[in-house]
Amino acid sequence: MTQELILRRPDDWHLHLRDGAMLQGVLPETARHFARAIIMPNLVPPVVTLAQAEAYRGRILAALPKGAAFEPLMTLYLTEGSDPADVAAAAASGLVKAVKLYPAGATTNSHSGVRNLDNVMPVLEKMAEIGLPLCTHGEVTTAEVDIFDREAVFIDTVLDPLRRRLPDLRIVMEHITTEEGVAYARAGGANLGATITTHHLIINRNHILVGGIKPHYYCLPVAKREKHRLALRAAATSGEGSFFLGTDSAPHVDALKEHACGCAGCFTATNTMALLAHVFEEDGALDKLEAFASLNGPAFYGLPVNETRMRLVKHELPQTFPEKILTEAGPVTVFDPGFPVHWHVEP
Ligand code: DOR
Ligand code: ZN
Repeated sequence: MTQELILRRPDDWHLHLRDGAMLQGVLPETARHFARAIIMPNLVPPVVTLAQAEAYRGRILAALPKGAAFEPLMTLYLTEGSDPADVAAAAASGLVKAVKLYPAGATTNSHSGVRNLDNVMPVLEKMAEIGLPLCTHGEVTTAEVDIFDREAVFIDTVLDPLRRRLPDLRIVMEHITTEEGVAYARAGGANLGATITTHHLIINRNHILVGGIKPHYYCLPVAKREKHRLALRAAATSGEGSFFLGTDSAPHVDALKEHACGCAGCFTATNTMALLAHVFEEDGALDKLEAFASLNGPAFYGLPVNETRMRLVKHELPQTFPEKILTEAGPVTVFDPGFPVHWHVEP
C-alpha cells in the first residue's frame, strides 16, 4: 500500500554549494527539491562583501539546470575587518539575507573567522538595529575544550553573553547537536531560531566510530551521544517555530573524506526529504514535517512561504538513491542512513 504526503515546497536554511565544478555537480541535487536555500559563504576566499555575494549568486544561477526554479539566499562571512556600513548596504540591497559567524578555526575554511567578538561588535550592533540575522557556527575552538563539549560551552560563554548584550540581534543557532542547544533555542523567544540537519536526526557518535571509522559520517559539529540525537528528534518533530531545517549538506570529494585528515561534512542534498519523511513517520509526526521544512524557516526570516507543493510517496519496496554524485571535481558520496527508505519525492 502506498502512502502520500503533500507539503509546501521546502527550503534549506543552511547549505554549502561550493564553486566551480563542485557547484555545477551538486546544485541540481538541491534545486530538484528545494525552492530556496541560505548559501554558506565559506568559499576560498570567503564571501565577505556585497560584490562578492552578488558575483557568487550569479555563478549559482548560471549553474542551475534549465527550467529549475531555485533562489539562492546569500550570506556574508563575518570577519574582524567587516564594516558595519557595508553590511547594512548589503542588507538594504535585498540580496544578502544573513551574516555568518565562524569562530576562527571552528571548521572548513573558517580561518578568516572571528577570534574576538569584541572586534565585530559594531557590525553586530548595526545588524541588531536593522534586523539582519546572524547565523552562528556555535562551537568554541579553545584547545582545552573537548570537541563533544564545544557547543554547550559556546552557548554559555559566547552566545548567552552576546544575547544579553544585544537582545535585539536576531540569531540562528546553526546545526544544533545537543540537548543543551535544543533547550536554549526553545527558551530563546522570537529573536532566536535553530536549524537542525537531517544527518544529526539519524546518527549519533557511535555511527562514526564503532566498527571502524566512517569518514562520511564525520561532520562539524560532530554527532554526539544518543540522548542528544533524541532531543534533536523531539525538537524537529515538535513543529515548534524555533526549529527549522538546515541540511548543512556539505560536499567534499571522496578523496578528501577518505583521507588521513578527512574533511568534515555530510552530503544529504540528494535524499534529505525522503529521509525526513522516514524520521517524522517513525516518530508519529508526519503532520509536523511541513512546519519543520517549509513553514518555520520563512517565518523566522520574514519571507513568504512557497506556493508550490512537493509530493512524497511511501512505497512498499525500499527506494534507491545514487550512492555517489559524480561531479567534475570528483565523486561525492551521498549520506547513507543505514536503513531502508521507502519514501521518495515524486512529481
Ligand atoms: O561538517 C561541516 N562541513 N561543518 C561545517 O561547519 C562546515 C562544512 C563544510 O563547509 O564542509
Ligand atoms: Zn555548514
